Amino acid sequence: MEGKTVAQTRVVMARSMQPTDANGYGNVHGGAIMRFVDEAAGAVAIRHARARAVTASLDHMSFEAPAHIGDLVTVTAYMTYTGRTSMEVTCEVTAENFLTGEERRISRCHLVYVATDERGNPIPVPPLILETEEERARWRAAEERRARRVSL
Ligand SMILES: CC(C)(COP(=O)(O)OP(=O)(O)OC[C@H]1O[C@@H](n2cnc3c(N)ncnc32)[C@H](O)[C@@H]1OP(=O)(O)O)[C@@H](O)C(=O)NCCC(=O)NCCS
Repeated sequence: MEGKTVAQTRVVMARSMQPTDANGYGNVHGGAIMRFVDEAAGAVAIRHARARAVTASLDHMSFEAPAHIGDLVTVTAYMTYTGRTSMEVTCEVTAENFLTGEERRISRCHLVYVATDERGNPIPVPPLILETEEERARWRAAEERRARRVSL
């Protein structure tokens, strides 16, 4: 199976936060961010596999700063690791105040997707072609996370 580079499937999704995304304090719900992250990361996995991809896991996700209604929230998602049928995608989330231009880092997390056929059975994915030293370092870190997940 022909491999794919990280750059070939990278996704950047941006959306301004609406009142329906808010909690009672005017901040964006953590769940709204998680859904957005899953959408962006899922798009990366599907682009890589060109097949259905289901979310198998989302590692610990912490929120370093709040996002507010009206902010432009951006999720940058890219492939960090591929196994036989699974793929790890890393997401970086930022929020920008439209009026001031101030940008805050909201979160960073790792999700695992598994490519499946129509019946939900795992199927092989193309290998990931690593082009830069940064991508090779991310791969090694993802291998360690995978080992930790398996031991859980
Ligand atoms: C993910 C799923 C397809 C795995 O099926 P399975 O029969 O356990 O598959 P296998 O044991 O053959 O493992 C397949 C791959 O998934 C990986 N995997 C399975 N469970 C995992 C988990 N919880 N976290 C991370 N990776 C996982 C395995 O390491 C393996 O990777 P590899 O092929 O790269 O080595 C199955 O558990 C499933 O359908 N889960 C529900 C997914 C879903 O509906 N998500 C949305 C939530 S509402």
